[in-house]
Amino acid sequence: MITARALTKEFKIPRKQPGLKGAIRHLIHGTYDCKRAVDGVDFSIEQGEAVAYIGPNGAGKSTTIKMLTGILRPTSGEIRIHGVDPQKERIKNAKNIGVVFGQRTQLWWDIPVEESFSLLKNIYQVPDEVYSENLRLFQEIFGLSEFMGHSARKLSLGQRMRADLAAALLHNPSTVFLDEPTIGLDIGTKEAMRELIQKINRERGVTIILTSHDLRDVEDICRRIIVIDHGKVVCDQEIRALVAQYPMDRGLQITLSAKSPGLLEALRAKEGITHAAMEDTHTLSVEFDPNLHTAFSLVKEIDQSAVILDFKLKEPSIERMIEQIYRSGEGAK
Ligand SMILES: Nc1ncnc2c1ncn2[C@@H]1O[C@H](COP(=O)(O)OP(=O)(O)O)[C@@H](O)[C@H]1O
Ligand SMILES: [Mg+2]
Repeated sequence: MITARALTKEFKIPRKQPGLKGAIRHLIHGTYDCKRAVDGVDFSIEQGEAVAYIGPNGAGKSTTIKMLTGILRPTSGEIRIHGVDPQKERIKNAKNIGVVFGQRTQLWWDIPVEESFSLLKNIYQVPDEVYSENLRLFQEIFGLSEFMGHSARKLSLGQRMRADLAAALLHNPSTVFLDEPTIGLDIGTKEAMRELIQKINRERGVTIILTSHDLRDVEDICRRIIVIDHGKVVCDQEIRALVAQYPMDRGLQITLSAKSPGLLEALRAKEGITHAAMEDTHTLSVEFDPNLHTAFSLVKEIDQSAVILDFKLKEPSIERMIEQIYRSGEGAK
């Protein structure tokens, strides 16, 4: 079980004034701004759960993951990972967890992947039979053998992320933290990553905590979503309940030559239009129930009272789901 209680992280950012005078003043007075990146976060996660930790850029996701994995010390609050405080018992915690950061590798840059793996095997004292069974599984899903002899610096991003995920799982951790693990990857690698993550969650009961901007990652892997914004939890729910509560309507973004008076009111008065607003002076955003309208019929209709320069369909996405949660005004708990 993983628990966070009133978890808070503040960063002190030096407030630099321009020029030499400012630099000296900063040295003497030590002027700082305080940024509260994580602000009183509470949750508890049972063994075997798969949880998506999502929110806009800068919401505090990575900072939370870094505290949970013992990389950053909380300013206040409490964390327990299987009863262990990750700051006080970093080594004990490391044996329980696996970590993948999409933005940087955990592998040794200059040595062949297979040697990184055997170093990890020794560090974590992975028994031979566990090690070879894991390598077999990773090979089956990831096809690692083609680049096991290469050093991490020579791998493509897709190969590196496959090697990174495999490395994080070698010691059979009971919890895996994945921070944007599929960012920038090609579809094939994304799918292989999802397959392996799903497999270790469903077949081995490994707890998964995942941050991602990819709705497919979240839908395929996770059963529960925690949404965070400005460092605070704004929603913590089963995905199924969330989707039922905020059905993903279809969305259109239409560029108009000018704001058209009365258009918004007319749209909002229609049945099956769940949202209509100007994003800026020229961009109209419309969401609609696909049972009652089609994108084509709406564009045709709007075209009668405004000059349409361009339009595009908005796909279901994490960002849109979060938008809907906010719009409903029920976001804040
Ligand atoms: N080391 C740091 N020093 C100062 N500010 C930081 C540091 N790390 C993160 N922040 C700030 O904290 C906030 C949350 O960052 P982060 O946890 O990386 O967000 P997310 O992963 O959700 O995009 C951001 O405003 C970010 O600029
Ligand atoms: Mg991040």
